Amino acid sequence: MATLYPVPIKDIDYKTEVNSLGFTLYEEAALLNAWRYVKQNIQYHSHEIFLNFFTKNEHFIGQFRDQNGKLNLVVLYKHSKSVLFTFTYLIENGIHDVRRMNLMLSYWSRAHYENGVRRNDIILLCDAVLSHIVEALGCKCTTTIKGALDKIILILLDAYPEI
Ligand code: HEM
Repeated sequence: MATLYPVPIKDIDYKTEVNSLGFTLYEEAALLNAWRYVKQNIQYHSHEIFLNFFTKNEHFIGQFRDQNGKLNLVVLYKHSKSVLFTFTYLIENGIHDVRRMNLMLSYWSRAHYENGVRRNDIILLCDAVLSHIVEALGCKCTTTIKGALDKIILILLDAYPEI
């Protein structure tokens, strides 16, 4: 039988169809949307996460001392922003593009590995980021958004060597 044109387009199940990094289109859209809200006050969120994290895990401040044991406040302050900038980059670029994801992950994991940061420390900070963002989004935080954030954190942890 002759082919009928136009050929019917395959139905896509947007809820279950995932990209090469495992994110559904719903997750990508929901996360981008939620992050637009976080970005409006990124400095505030960075400071809150930083204060909560270092209040509970005071000993990590040692990672930010120089060779003479002096606290490097500039680097410590910069790091609080670097953390959420990393999430912003991954949400806006990484989850759609495996090359950008890998570039960021290799830069990020090397920076930490070489400074002796353990995988467990990363887990603690990721927990602090996640719980702060979920609380900040409040009722806007759907299970889709929470699931997508969990996936980003799993990708970060998978990329980090066990030390
Ligand atoms: C969610 C987890 C984390 C993210 C996304 C993150 C992000 C970053 C980024 C992007 C940099 C590079 C900064 C730059 O070059 O400007 C960096 C450096 C660094 N991070 Fe983290 N970080 C995380 C967890 C941690 C933890 C748990 C510690 C230890 C308590 C830590 C300690 C450091 C140190 C010591 C540096 C090097 C700072 C420097 O010399 O400039 N990071 N981090």
